[in-house]
Amino acid sequence: DERVATTIDKVCAVIPDYPEPGIIFRDLTPLFADGAALREVVDALLRRFEGQFDVVAGVEARGFLLASAAAYAAGVGVLPVRKEGKLPRETYAESYQLEYGTATLEIHRDDIPAGARVLVLDDILATGGTLGAAVKLVERAGLHVAGIGVVMELEGLAGRSNLTGHEVSALYTV
Ligand code: PRP
Ligand code: MG
Repeated sequence: DERVATTIDKVCAVIPDYPEPGIIFRDLTPLFADGAALREVVDALLRRFEGQFDVVAGVEARGFLLASAAAYAAGVGVLPVRKEGKLPRETYAESYQLEYGTATLEIHRDDIPAGARVLVLDDILATGGTLGAAVKLVERAGLHVAGIGVVMELEGLAGRSNLTGHEVSALYTV
């Protein structure tokens, strides 16, 4: 998977001092906009978990872009993990830490039959707050976390410490 890392390196935009001085923002929209790169990335994530999942969960918003493409390619359904207040039926909710304050994610309680194996996808693993909450929600819904896949991991933020006990696959680490 040297090749996919090279692709990500080439197409991802690096913006210094955004959103504030000292932060290096890594923007994946050029990757999503590039058909060949998008396919390469989604295929690489799927290869790592082939045969191990029954459904793909994506975390709103950027995780949706990967999860629906991956689910379609694998011929399985997609489970949206949404920001609070968007889902109309009974949900489970988990809050997580942001740099300032907290945020909440939700999942419908009964979209997927209990026991299903879920591949959880998002674009970036930073502090792991987001994916940590997503994984808890999947488990509270009676589902099994088959694995976690991200395009990019920001290693310095030690996000994996929020995901212990799960297989985490990052296509590119910085
Ligand atoms: C970004 C990114 C990841 C998350 C990673 O999402 O898409 O989901 O942050 O950060 P963490 O590991 O520190 O939690 P954001 O909440 O900015 O929203 P978006 O996906 O709706 O753009
Ligand atoms: Mg996000």
